[in-house]
Amino acid sequence: MALRNVPPDRTLLQVLRDDLSLKATKEGCGEGDCGACTVVLGEAVNGQLAYKAINSCIRLAHSVNGMAGLFGMYQNNPGGQGITRESAQADLAGNLCRCTGYRPILEAAVTMGGLPLPAGCGVDELATVQALKSIKGKAPSIAGDANYLRPTSLHALLQARARHPQAQLVAGCTDVGLWVTKHHRRFEQVIDVTAARELRRVETYPHHIAIGAAVSLTQAFKALVKERPQLLHFSRRFAGLPVRNSGTLGGNVANGSPIGDSMPLLIALGASVVLMRWKKTRQGGEVAHRELRLEDLYTGYRTNVMRPDELLAWIKVPRPTGQALEKIYKISKRFDDDISAICLAIQMTIKGGVVQQVSIGAGGVAATPARARQTEAALLGQPWNADTVMAAQAALRSEFQPISDMRASAHYRQTVLGNLLQRFWLERQGKTTINLESLHSVEALA
Ligand code: FES
Repeated sequence: MALRNVPPDRTLLQVLRDDLSLKATKEGCGEGDCGACTVVLGEAVNGQLAYKAINSCIRLAHSVNGMAGLFGMYQNNPGGQGITRESAQADLAGNLCRCTGYRPILEAAVTMGGLPLPAGCGVDELATVQALKSIKGKAPSIAGDANYLRPTSLHALLQARARHPQAQLVAGCTDVGLWVTKHHRRFEQVIDVTAARELRRVETYPHHIAIGAAVSLTQAFKALVKERPQLLHFSRRFAGLPVRNSGTLGGNVANGSPIGDSMPLLIALGASVVLMRWKKTRQGGEVAHRELRLEDLYTGYRTNVMRPDELLAWIKVPRPTGQALEKIYKISKRFDDDISAICLAIQMTIKGGVVQQVSIGAGGVAATPARARQTEAALLGQPWNADTVMAAQAALRSEFQPISDMRASAHYRQTVLGNLLQRFWLERQGKTTINLESLHSVEALA
């Protein structure tokens, strides 16, 4: 289907409901929280369809050019096989039930593998992949507006940015979408980084992995969890599945929200970012790049050191050495689909009973995601004991001046920050506590 004259900032939900009169897709919150607008995209990857549930309310319509609208969990588990209550629960995160409760939904999910497929209800994957192939390379099926630029190579992307430094950049749009639906902002021109093939990769090197700016949060966390299995629970607490499927790690980092959950983790792990731009030369032009530590990217509330013609292209995450203790704590009111009041990530190496290396990232404590340098200084070179921890707790509580808002008071945030460091210490002593992860069961949701 070809649509014409679709403005660059029109959402997929607006196109579905208002332009195409496909009213089965609903609008609830309009901000990626409730799941009423969920649709499933099918994208041809290596000759097969990959399915992703996404929130259509905050997804720009042009970004789905060349994809098919289908449905998800069943397709990703052929024949509905292998779906457990826990996996169904994880996939349901991001959908607020508005009628029957979650129990019958979960029961339906785990039993569907044993049911025959109704005649005519299957997806003809081969035909769909062929159809998607046939439109690839042709004129966009959402056309008539040259103001949505979605280059398919890094060079073309950097050149587009150099030509249009004023255009709104999107890389998944899970936050920029809210600027459209909630703040009623309009964008005359949009540059979408998600089709640049070089940036859709995760590359593994001896000492780090490099995550391209177009890699979805789902895929980025998959790569991080592969290296650090202990991050699995945290990865499931990052928003909900449809947001993780649309949003990108690069977008989250470049956006620089002080309550974005990936940055405290990446700061603690010692991640860096690679910024790129197209530089004019006598020969025509070349790619220029620079690399900096993630915490040095930010200059203030959602401001950063990037030039107008620069893009965040890669995030480099050191691989685990096996020596450091690594832990991340997220404090929020719900387990799933919630924003942190506080996020604290710690990486620490102890040798001979002394803190030999430490890096601490914190979210929800300042105008930017932050590194807790004063607290690190209180720990570094000190014996790893209760006195040191107490001194570091005091340093952490006084290092930041968080604000009070709907998620938590400033006092609560400061108190909890110190408590989390104490918890880290207690856990290292083998004392485990009841936590949200251990309560994450069907009963907790029902
Ligand atoms: Fe609630 Fe889109 S309308 S997530």
